[in-house]
Amino acid sequence: MSKKIILAIESSCDETAAAVVVDGREVLSNVIASQIETHKKFGGVVPEVASRMHIEVVDSVVKAALSEAEVSLDDIDAIGVTYGPGLVGALLVGLQYAKGLSLGSKKPLIGVNHIQGHISANFIQHKDLKPPFVSLVVSGGHTFIVHVKGYRDFEIIAQTRDDAVGEAYDKVARALGLGYPGGPKIDKLAKEGNENAIDFPRAKFQEDTLDFSFSGVKSAVLNYLNKAQMKDIEINKADIAASFQKAVIDALKTNLFLTCERRGIKKVAVAGGVASNSCLRETLLKEGAKRGIEILFPSPILCTDNAAMIGSAAYFNYQERIISDLDINAKPNLKLGEA
Ligand code: KG4
Ligand code: ZN
Repeated sequence: MSKKIILAIESSCDETAAAVVVDGREVLSNVIASQIETHKKFGGVVPEVASRMHIEVVDSVVKAALSEAEVSLDDIDAIGVTYGPGLVGALLVGLQYAKGLSLGSKKPLIGVNHIQGHISANFIQHKDLKPPFVSLVVSGGHTFIVHVKGYRDFEIIAQTRDDAVGEAYDKVARALGLGYPGGPKIDKLAKEGNENAIDFPRAKFQEDTLDFSFSGVKSAVLNYLNKAQMKDIEINKADIAASFQKAVIDALKTNLFLTCERRGIKKVAVAGGVASNSCLRETLLKEGAKRGIEILFPSPILCTDNAAMIGSAAYFNYQERIISDLDINAKPNLKLGEA
C-alpha cells in the first residue's frame, strides 16, 4: 500500500500550526506559531485577538510546513484540519483556509476533532502503540479519561464537571501572580515547595463516578490567599503551588488507575498540554510501575497544541474514508466520537 501524506492545520486556540505527516506516525514537519507573548499581556487568551493573529500567519505557517517537509501540494493525499472543539473564531480561520486549499488542489478535506488529535500524538511518539488503551487527556480546556477501543472508537469514562486541569493551573498561577500560561510556572515553583504544607480539599461525589472537579481546590487556594492577605500573613508560594499540584494529581492518579483496574487495561497514554507536567509524569510512572501498567507520554512538543497530532488523527479518519464536505462548519463544543 502506498504511503499517505497528510497536510494538517490547527488553529483552535492560540497556536497557528501546520504539519506534514506520513501514515499517521512519521512527522516530516511540525510548524507552530505561538501567540503566547501577545496573550500574556492580557493574562489569558483573548478570542478575537487569537482569530486575527491566525488570519495573519496561517498562509505562511502552511507554506513553511510544506517547504520544511520538502513536499508540494501535489504530493499531499489529503488535508486534515481541526474543526472543534475550540474557540469558534479561531477554528474558522484554519478551517476556511483548509477548505480553500482543498477546493483549489482537489485534495480531500478531513475534519479532525482536537481531542482525538491530542490522543493521536501518542501514535507519533510510540510507533507500535495500538488500541486498546486508556487515555488521560489533560489540557487547558479538557480533562477526560477515555477508553480508546480503536483508532476512532472512544468511550468517555470520566470528565471534569467544572474546570479543566490546565484551567485550574492557569487560574491558581494567576492568583499567585505567576503570569500566563500558569501550568509550567506552577510545575517549576512546586519543586521548591512542600506538597504536604497545606491540605487542599479533594472533590467528593455522592454517586459512584470517576468524574473530576477542580473548581473546589482552585477556590480553596484563592480563599487561602485572600485570608492570608486580610490577616497580613506572609505566604509561601512554593508550598501553595506544591500542595495545589498534589491535590490535583492525586485525583487524576486515583481515577485513572481505578479505570485501568475496572477495564482490565494495562496501557495508558497521557495527552494534552498538562501531560508535560513533571510531577504528573513522575507520579504516574511510579504508580504504573508498581501496578505493572505501562504509562506513555508524548514528548512536550507533541503535548501542547500542534498540527502533527491533527495529521495523525486525520490519517486514521482517512483510512476509514471519513472525508468532510466543503460545507463543514466549526463546532466549538464538538464531543469526542461525535460525527
Ligand atoms: O493542550 P494545550 O496546549 O491547549 C489546549 O488544548 O488547552 O494545553 C494548554 C494547557 C495550559 O492550561 C497550560 O497551563 C497547561 O496546558 N500546561 C501545563 C504544563 N505545561 C502546559 N500544566 C501543568 N504543568 C505543565 N508543565
Ligand atoms: Zn489542545
